[in-house]
Amino acid sequence: MTRSLVIGAGGQIASDLIPALHRRGDEVRMLDLLPPERTNGFRALDGYFRSAGDPGWTKRWTAADAAKGSAVPEIIAGFRPQEVYLLTALLSAVGEGKPGLCLDVNMGSLRLCLESIDAMPAPKARLLWPSSIAAFGPIPGHPGGLPDPVGDDTPCFPTTMYGVTKVAGELLGAWYARTGRVDFRSLRFPGLLNATPPGGGTTDFANEMYFAAVERRPSRDFLREDTRLPFMYMPDAVRSMLELTAADPARLSRRTYVVAGLSPSAREIAASIAKHVERIHPGHRFEAAFLPGDPRQKIADTWPRTLDDACARRDWGWRAQYATLDAMTPALLDEIRAKQG
Ligand code: SER
Repeated sequence: MTRSLVIGAGGQIASDLIPALHRRGDEVRMLDLLPPERTNGFRALDGYFRSAGDPGWTKRWTAADAAKGSAVPEIIAGFRPQEVYLLTALLSAVGEGKPGLCLDVNMGSLRLCLESIDAMPAPKARLLWPSSIAAFGPIPGHPGGLPDPVGDDTPCFPTTMYGVTKVAGELLGAWYARTGRVDFRSLRFPGLLNATPPGGGTTDFANEMYFAAVERRPSRDFLREDTRLPFMYMPDAVRSMLELTAADPARLSRRTYVVAGLSPSAREIAASIAKHVERIHPGHRFEAAFLPGDPRQKIADTWPRTLDDACARRDWGWRAQYATLDAMTPALLDEIRAKQG
């Protein structure tokens, strides 16, 4: 039985990662700044654990700051996890409004976690930390800013504080790995979609469209309809985390990997929802309005449109299962409807 620690346990990624770890048979401990009932992920987690016959799951949850203090070092020293998933972060849009807090939380939590794992007696935990497409931004002198697709070796010129923390964190983790201190691994994720609301990202407009469709509301989207960005359905994202964490270190040619899912425009997402929502709400016409002028457009315009994940495919056999809207949209609509109960 693998001992796994999930930090940032109340967020969007954790709401699917924790059930996946539990289903795998792991002993899972959870830490988040908030108590479980006050997190975005509570509904999904509580539903999962109750149906798994484990209604007392919140006893394994610690409410504490992941970026400072003694909680993370104490849990890592006492629980001796074999795998740590550090998901704590302020996302891109919120981070631009609170840059100092974004720097403190995103870098502080990573530093504390790396130092706590480094202090473990062998065997030390592997650390999985999500990076993001926000690591990229217009390359000085490059026509159009970025190549299309963007790949692992595309130079990183992040434009947001969130992106700066992601690139800095990738480099910090790689240093800990190179010096033999911590087996750090990272994924540059596209915008992630599941039934749990994300908190304050630029790609959230897509999540909101799916929620609106299930709730039979018109959606008001803050990006231009021709905005094309990389996305990934959460089951693929969770699988990529588990596969990279489990990969033989001898096969890893790098510590951070781009992973690709699909790259629809906002208009294509709306059309896909309109096509598939009919099955769950017969007769309902999904309407999406695209409202110009939001500051998040400026962030989106600096990000990759499509991704090339050749290194992940080659090194550890990665391949997304949900690579088209027709594969993802029906599954995501069903999932949101089921979890909203
Ligand atoms: N989904 C994130 C955001 O929009 C990107 O990693 O901030």
